[in-house]
Amino acid sequence: MVVATKKAPLSMKAAMGGAKVGVQQKVQRLASVSKKIMAAAAVSNGIDMENAKTGGGGQRVMIIGGDGYCGWATALHLSKKGYEVSIVDSLIRRHMDQQCGTQSLTPIASIHDRVAKWEELTGKKIDLYIGDITDYGFFS
Ligand SMILES: NC(=O)c1ccc[n+]([C@@H]2O[C@H](COP(=O)([O-])OP(=O)(O)OC[C@H]3O[C@@H](n4cnc5c(N)ncnc54)[C@H](O)[C@@H]3O)[C@@H](O)[C@H]2O)c1
Repeated sequence: MVVATKKAPLSMKAAMGGAKVGVQQKVQRLASVSKKIMAAAAVSNGIDMENAKTGGGGQRVMIIGGDGYCGWATALHLSKKGYEVSIVDSLIRRHMDQQCGTQSLTPIASIHDRVAKWEELTGKKIDLYIGDITDYGFFS
């Protein structure tokens, strides 16, 4: 997902209002901040995530970076609400891990497997396009 913002990212201290807090509170506050960012991004794209209780009425959305941390959760959230979701991702994040010989602490299944599992569990299809959005030939 691409979230364009003109404001600088919140530091943890600023996000917490400057107060000393525990890990659980930090996680809760970060979840709340992420939800607001996702909602703001969605509204700016004409998607009312809070009020789309029963479904997106088949409205089509494209999640750029849908294999990523924010993009995957957003894709599932909107798919569950009835939007027709397409994911576009170059898989550059995974390629970087391969090149550096690194991996995430918890294994993350391939985007192909995750999309297939989502369809198996919910019956909802998420279309998948593997490519770089800076590649005009792919994107056009
Ligand atoms: N477990 C965790 O706490 C955890 C896990 C992952 C990420 N994070 C953090 O959350 C941050 C936010 O996550 P995010 O979703 O913004 O980043 P991300 O790196 O998880 O996802 C970005 C996605 O965009 C894709 N992408 C990048 N350039 C592209 C291009 N030109 N065309 C198509 N796809 C492209 C990448 O392949 C990747 O899948 C990460 O940067 C990281 O700091 C935390």
